[in-house]
Amino acid sequence: MSFAVSAQLEARLDELTTHYPVKRSASLMFLHALQEEFGHISPEAVEWTAKKLGLQPINVYELVTFYPMFRQEPLGKTHVKVCRTLSCALAGSASIRDHFCKKLGLDPHAHTPQTTPDGKFTVEFVECLAACGTAPVVLVNENLHEQVTTAKADAILAGGK
Ligand code: FES
Repeated sequence: MSFAVSAQLEARLDELTTHYPVKRSASLMFLHALQEEFGHISPEAVEWTAKKLGLQPINVYELVTFYPMFRQEPLGKTHVKVCRTLSCALAGSASIRDHFCKKLGLDPHAHTPQTTPDGKFTVEFVECLAACGTAPVVLVNENLHEQVTTAKADAILAGGK
């Protein structure tokens, strides 16, 4: 896939750098904007950001690999985030994630987000989704699902794009 930043986005990012005493301080804002535009941070996006900010690509990679909100791989159309923090763990979130993974043919033991080959679903464990009282909790794209059972998980998959 080719990587091309629109003139509009580039102009917005160029303007953004004027708000910082040094260009490299805009690195995180660049990465957020590029991820919003392209869905993930590709090697090309890293190169582009480094060039724009007068950095080496490794300086940008350090940020991409350090902060968990940055993704280096494209997500599936339906992004299933299963909370693994204490309340949800005690309420069985691991078995809910296993259920999603088994239904989708993904490895339930993987530690990183997994995407189905058709690009329809990504499943991952995340930390607290701030709805601990109704554990186990699953965030599907922007929709929060509470007290998730395997039956609810099946309904979520059936409604996936
Ligand atoms: S522990 Fe799962 S939402 Fe807080």
